[in-house]
Amino acid sequence: MSGTIRFLHILIFFCSFFIVTIGIAGKRAATTTTYNVLSFGARADGETDSTHAFLRAWAEACGSPEPAGIYVPPGEFRLGSARFRGRCRSKAVSVTIDGTLVAPSDYWSVAWKNWLLFEHVDGVNIRGGVLDGRGAALWRCKNSGGSCPAGATTLRFTNSKNINISHLTSHNSQMFHIVFNGCHNIEVNGVNVTAAGNSPNTDGIHVQLSSHVAILNSNIRTGDDCISIGPGISDLRIENVTCGPGHGISIGSLGKEMKEAGVQNVTVKRVEFNGTQNGVRIKSWGRPSNGFVKNIVFQNIAMLDVYNPIIIDQNYCPNHKGCPGQASGVKIRDVTYKDIHGTSASQVAIKFDCSSKHSCKRIRLEDVKLTYKKQAARALCNHAGGTASPSVQPESCL
Ligand SMILES: *[C@@H]1O[C@H](CO)[C@@H](O)[C@H](O)[C@H]1NC(C)=O
Ligand SMILES: *[C@@H]1O[C@H](CO)[C@@H](O)[C@H](O)[C@H]1NC(C)=O
Ligand SMILES: *[C@@H]1O[C@H](CO)[C@@H](O)[C@H](O)[C@H]1NC(C)=O
Ligand SMILES: *[C@@H]1O[C@H](CO)[C@@H](O)[C@H](O)[C@H]1NC(C)=O
Ligand SMILES: *[C@@H]1O[C@H](CO)[C@@H](O)[C@H](O)[C@H]1NC(C)=O
Repeated sequence: MSGTIRFLHILIFFCSFFIVTIGIAGKRAATTTTYNVLSFGARADGETDSTHAFLRAWAEACGSPEPAGIYVPPGEFRLGSARFRGRCRSKAVSVTIDGTLVAPSDYWSVAWKNWLLFEHVDGVNIRGGVLDGRGAALWRCKNSGGSCPAGATTLRFTNSKNINISHLTSHNSQMFHIVFNGCHNIEVNGVNVTAAGNSPNTDGIHVQLSSHVAILNSNIRTGDDCISIGPGISDLRIENVTCGPGHGISIGSLGKEMKEAGVQNVTVKRVEFNGTQNGVRIKSWGRPSNGFVKNIVFQNIAMLDVYNPIIIDQNYCPNHKGCPGQASGVKIRDVTYKDIHGTSASQVAIKFDCSSKHSCKRIRLEDVKLTYKKQAARALCNHAGGTASPSVQPESCL
């Protein structure tokens, strides 16, 4: 009897040992190979051009039969324009950055209008790191009206999907900081973007022709839009973001082209604007277009001295070229502003300046209270229809 029990105990012992061993072996099989950029000749001295080392590490990770990793250790790595191209053999590439990547000091040397470009990639996860675009010299050139190049976007993804970017910092981009164009299933989480308040065209995050995008828990201070939303967006969620200085969150400019994809299903929630030019803006060119904006929610938003806290501007026509006297073709409907509080830096705290040809439809204001220097703020409407709950301040003009 006791012999049988002992035998069973021994059997159980061996079985569990066997299972644990399989477990460990299983884990090992799933671990990714990680390529350290130092093994490809990158130097963390802030001087040596490490572009080729990074591209070689990418080629290995991308060509790997298994999910692969790239590791960038602490230190400063100088990189010129780099194009990280797919399609990859590996199903996923995780890039972990503990160091800082710095752009060349000569802004003429950054080709392709992008500094770091990812194209046709699927399953890229970038975690940590600092990207320093060294834009100040170019901003000075632009601000002094000299002849200067447009400048490079710091980090761009085109025609890609399943991208996560987290705990990354982008400083002083020459142009836009982070751009997604033609992408699907994107998450940006815990990212900080900074550039001087007077730096031209340094939008924080720009998205267009993309779907299923989330921008979460991020702080953005720049000289231009905090987040700009171009044509062809569906299912975009922005949550827990602080903006300022800068130009705020903007849907548009839209409607520059006659044939243009619309923007739909955008939610902006728990956002704080501090000293920005705009808060939540929808903007379109005053010219014909088949574009549209629909199903938009701006909710739980704090405004601190924002010049135009709530604004729809459908008469955008810079330098009065190519559009004076024309009406915007962009159709705007179902836009909700809910739980929006704070201070306006101008008397007109709410401005709905819609197209004379296609009025804005079903705009809703609910639990909105904006004040102007302790005086009554104003709301201004042109061709705007919708409803407002009774407590809305300034008094609605819908
Ligand atoms: C991105 O993050 C989400 C959750 O935050 C996760 O489900 C998804 O697998 C991640 N994608 C990649 C490519 O790492
Ligand atoms: C971003 O800024 C916040 C607030 O200053 C800070 O707590 C956080 O650690 C920063 N994140 C990164 C990735 O540096
Ligand atoms: C937003 O922040 C709140 C409070 O810090 C947190 O509970 C919530 O999960 C955050 N939302 C997202 C999508 O991370
Ligand atoms: C937008 O949201 C509505 C309502 O939730 C949904 O029915 C529709 O399919 C969504 N459209 C897109 C393109 O995601
Ligand atoms: C708003 O920005 C100003 C100037 O940058 C800063 O001093 C202040 O602390 C910020 N306020 C909040 C509530 O973040």
